Amino acid sequence: MKLRIAIDGPAGAGKSTAARAVAKRLGLAYLDTGAMYRAVTLFALRRKVNLHDDKELERLAASLDLAVKSGKDGENIIYVDGEDVTEAIRTPEVNRHVSIVAKCPEVRVLMVEKQKAIGRAGNVVMDGRDIGTNVMPDAEVKIFLTASLEERARRRLAELTAKGEKLDLEQMIAEIAARDKIDSERECSPLRPAEDAVHLDTTNMTVEEVVDAIVNIAAGP
Ligand code: DC
Repeated sequence: MKLRIAIDGPAGAGKSTAARAVAKRLGLAYLDTGAMYRAVTLFALRRKVNLHDDKELERLAASLDLAVKSGKDGENIIYVDGEDVTEAIRTPEVNRHVSIVAKCPEVRVLMVEKQKAIGRAGNVVMDGRDIGTNVMPDAEVKIFLTASLEERARRRLAELTAKGEKLDLEQMIAEIAARDKIDSERECSPLRPAEDAVHLDTTNMTVEEVVDAIVNIAAGP
């Protein structure tokens, strides 16, 4: 039996944490598709590519050897041209620019191709923005995770503060709101729930509760 679980939603809704735990619980593979856009962004910044030039971005994305492996806890380890960039793609600088790169249609085509190939193999939990609508439109389970803007900003702030970054909540709220706006207003596969997605508002839920809810939905009625 093939089981594919698509988890979409805005930044900071808890998708990656929940998706990884659900995958572990159900013995499925896990793919964090946002990490792929982040990896392209990291290299675009390093190589000073003009982020507003779609052709330049496409050339860069096509030239990178992007590999996603599974770590010991099921987490994604991201390699670009053999370099482990798992940490480097989570900096505030990448956060601030990734939505611009992710709206480039040519970059999306290249990333979605890889994601669809992984989806076809089945037995996978994938999280992103367009998984239920575009990457795995025939997934058996589709979840749309949300949380209030303030709660999402608080979660991202806690993650970054733990890494020693100095940011405040107001700044985080503004950054997340700006990313949501670009992600949901872009022309190519914007962030939106699939028609048959189950909506889960995680504002007042613990990670454990979110994971239980998704596992129950996957188990069916
Ligand atoms: O989930 P994340 O914050 O790591 O995502 C990083 C960016 O990539 C975010 O701005 C939206 C974009 N993204 C996307 O457009 N499509 C996906 N399937 C996953 C992420």
